[in-house]
Amino acid sequence: MEQSVSFDLELIRRYDQSGPRYTSYPTAVEFSEAFDETAYKAACARSNDSGRPLSIYFHIPFCDTVCFYCACNKIATKDRSLAPPYLERVYRELAMQSALFDRSRRVEQLHWGGGTPTFLSHAQMSELMDVTRRHFDLAGDDVGEFSIEIDPREADASTVKLLRNIGFNRMSLGVQDFDLKVQTAVNRVQTEAETMAVLDAAIAEGFRSTSIDLIYGLPFQTVASFSNTLERVIAVNPQRLSIFNYAHLPERFKPQRRINDADLPAPEVKLDILQSTISRLTEAGYVYIGMDHFARPDDELALAQQAGTLYRNFQGYSTHADCDLIGIGVTSIGKVDNTYGQNRRELEEYYADIDAGRLAVFRGIELNRDDLIRRDMITKLICHFQLDIRTAEATWGIQFADYFADALTKLQGMANDGLVEITPTQIRILARGRLLVRNICMAFDAYLATKTGPIGFSKVI
Ligand SMILES: C[S@@+](CC[C@H](N)C(=O)[O-])C[C@H]1O[C@@H](n2cnc3c(N)ncnc32)[C@H](O)[C@@H]1O
Ligand code: SF4
Repeated sequence: MEQSVSFDLELIRRYDQSGPRYTSYPTAVEFSEAFDETAYKAACARSNDSGRPLSIYFHIPFCDTVCFYCACNKIATKDRSLAPPYLERVYRELAMQSALFDRSRRVEQLHWGGGTPTFLSHAQMSELMDVTRRHFDLAGDDVGEFSIEIDPREADASTVKLLRNIGFNRMSLGVQDFDLKVQTAVNRVQTEAETMAVLDAAIAEGFRSTSIDLIYGLPFQTVASFSNTLERVIAVNPQRLSIFNYAHLPERFKPQRRINDADLPAPEVKLDILQSTISRLTEAGYVYIGMDHFARPDDELALAQQAGTLYRNFQGYSTHADCDLIGIGVTSIGKVDNTYGQNRRELEEYYADIDAGRLAVFRGIELNRDDLIRRDMITKLICHFQLDIRTAEATWGIQFADYFADALTKLQGMANDGLVEITPTQIRILARGRLLVRNICMAFDAYLATKTGPIGFSKVI
């Protein structure tokens, strides 16, 4: 499969609009409180019949300081004494969740996200992994994908060594930008030495994959300043890179109100940054996986994309397609059988449920057949930039042209613009359409048409 991407400024300008990132379909906007603990337990029982492997996501919400741009679910606090009561609830939740799944189902994927997972002490991190292993069977290091999000300000070589010892084999590092003026404006001053210490340790300890997060569109960024950051990142040659578009939604994320609108780069500067970033990364040998992600051509994600086995979930792209996902901790989302279920979003509410001996799932959705069909199409497009019509018809027993008449009509304009190629057997996203993959997926989204007002999705580019 061809993995190139081309940058057409005029097209991008024309198609730039708000849209979902499709870490789930239907998106979380469609979750309802009608989906409760009982519905979740029923889904777990159904999923045991499948014997599928498991994936577990742990949310550690605490951060020592708040980065003003942050759109993650976090609790800013310097009070480390908040960790033990949180972990106590996580352990009780793990016990309740493990009782719902057959012990024979192995955990092939495990992820700690945040917030800042390394807010926890070394002893707490070891204990959390021990308790997890007591309740679930984790796959071996050769098969399992065990990943953690690291803030290099909250980790050093000894942390990395410990993480490798307790089983992690992949990490992503939050960097965002190396420029001090940008860092100061977003309240995240992080030296290059702190970042490099963690990266060097990851290589020394045998982490299989390292990924670096950068954000473009932050205050005071210019093409030159961001290129400078990028050069320093390319020099250390991480396996993967995430180049996120800064999602500025100050009405939704309070800390973003401390960012001065006037300091943000103009839209044309952002596009210039994106363009030069793509061309520099391509020149450096990275391939565009899709939706903000780049990887070295020998990385598992790039290979899985070539082989047609790539998958997308709440943590981004993944090579483990067929897992049921268990979400542990405040705000976590799980995907079990044909459902998504989300835990309580406020710490006190999460604690209250767990203390009462209940799971903290408070909303979600049970996918109907149409949702499942559309999710399959969106996943194929977002992971592989192509969709085989005959396979879709055989898998779902549909006449593609009839079933998706609406979507095909919507796609026609994009086909005329050279974003996609539609033949009787295939829909293929062309190099010009790759950065606009969200727009193309939106044609298959049955819920967008029912929306009237703004629903708070970030801009596509
Ligand atoms: C949970 S954080 C990463 C872990 C750790 N807390 C850290 O900051 O290093 C996940 C990533 O989301 C990205 N991110 C956070 N807020 C964002 C926003 N408003 N727009 C785009 N990307 C954002 C950042 O690149 C960040 O590294
Ligand atoms: S970017 Fe990371 S460290 Fe900063 S506030 Fe968000 S979750 Fe916390």
